[in-house]
Amino acid sequence: MGKQIHFNGFIQHSPSPHSTGLWKHEKDGGVNHNQLTYWVEIAQLLERGKFDSLFIADVLGTYSVYENSHRAGAEYAVQLPAHDPIIPISAMAAVTKHLGFAPTISATYAQPYALARQLSTLDHMTNGRVAWNVVTSYLESEAVNLGLTERLPKELRYDRADEFLEVVYKLWEESWEDGAVIYDRENDRFADPKKVHLINHAGEFFDVPGPHLVEPSPQRTPVIFQAGASPRGRDFAAKHAEGVFTKNHSLEALKKYTADIRRRTTLQGRDKQDVLIFPLILPIIGSTEEEAYQKYEELKEQVSYEGTASLLSGHTGIDFSRYDPDQYIEDMETEAVQGNLDMYTKDPNKKWTLREAIKNHGLGNGTVKFIGTPEQIADQIEEWATIGDADGFNIAQSYSPGTFREFVDDVIPELQKRGIYRTEYEGNTLRENMFGKGRTHIPANHPAKSVKAKV
Ligand SMILES: Cc1cc2nc3c(=O)[nH]c(=O)nc-3n(C[C@H](O)[C@H](O)[C@H](O)COP(=O)(O)O)c2cc1C
Repeated sequence: MGKQIHFNGFIQHSPSPHSTGLWKHEKDGGVNHNQLTYWVEIAQLLERGKFDSLFIADVLGTYSVYENSHRAGAEYAVQLPAHDPIIPISAMAAVTKHLGFAPTISATYAQPYALARQLSTLDHMTNGRVAWNVVTSYLESEAVNLGLTERLPKELRYDRADEFLEVVYKLWEESWEDGAVIYDRENDRFADPKKVHLINHAGEFFDVPGPHLVEPSPQRTPVIFQAGASPRGRDFAAKHAEGVFTKNHSLEALKKYTADIRRRTTLQGRDKQDVLIFPLILPIIGSTEEEAYQKYEELKEQVSYEGTASLLSGHTGIDFSRYDPDQYIEDMETEAVQGNLDMYTKDPNKKWTLREAIKNHGLGNGTVKFIGTPEQIADQIEEWATIGDADGFNIAQSYSPGTFREFVDDVIPELQKRGIYRTEYEGNTLRENMFGKGRTHIPANHPAKSVKAKV
């Protein structure tokens, strides 16, 4: 049996969040994102396709870099409206048994004590199927609405996130011992207080005495996801993440990224296979290759050009309303999402004009498109998994949930036929389905296990 591939569905609580303007496509149901029925259908669909999880991206602000205004963001639904990613999870958990849920929550704006409670509660409600996509947030519009006068510098955001994780690890792993809950009805004792500990965290950013408010959940620490692109971001991923998300449009770029993440993970004293790497792909499936490419052309027609300019401005931190569309995009350092800029400035195969970059960015957030018949897409998946060393993929959508449905109906059976994709889930918790039966808890060589509460 070859290498087994994993999939996550990539979504956001917003109409057509990753293919700007596709909300108006006749096959798109994204406008129903404010209905539970939309989420229930997606969860059942992905579980039918034996996906690991539904990964729910999130931002806490508007895309207002473009023209220094939210105008284009509102007009073209550029990840706006942006509803809360956590709210639909309980409903989806109620109609599924195995699918995991990976909401995005910002370590820059959340509080570790409250967030630890929220995720532990969700881990209970889902019987151990929760992950957390740890982000540090890149939009200025998030900072000014959430108590800061401006976005914190990237280094500082990561410093804060590092300590944030230390606090939540202490709450999840150290506060309540196994066996603390005794349910002793006869003696009127719910828990043994000797086994419920303060954590007494005192640090640079946080002072949290504890104890944790929630008894141990099935996984204790939820599965940690991250998507660092800068050197500091990659080190953060190598230290903490069990799954990393990346966006590339060439196999060469992916190869470099995976080798670098594996190297950094080893330097952190972890096994290089303890971090699963998930490139984002947009599948465009046809019954013939010609039909798939025709579909690609049709989808491009529906992309909103100005909406995507606003999206790309937010992703890169550059106001592209001031640029000539035929100008080449320049290489520079950004405080926003470095990887999004690098895609267009460090491509060894091509120099990108702004117009070309915008057109590309409008479908699947600019990531690689796998276009063709189900067999051709399965070939590309195998190639990226073997040569590119990907462990799995995040599946982006053009229209929702139609892209997921086509992938589950047409590509999944092909991968199963080739023996490189599960026909049954391996375990019950998300971590087991990612790493194998029996691995419900975070492994001993992870930093979550080396934090010590000061009891
Ligand atoms: C597939 C993918 C999904 C991401 N989703 C989010 C998200 O939902 N919210 C967010 O604030 N950042 C998101 N990011 C951005 C990353 O968290 C991170 O900020 C970015 O990759 C830049 O990394 P750097 O800060 O190390 O340069 C995502 C990145 C990738 C590649």
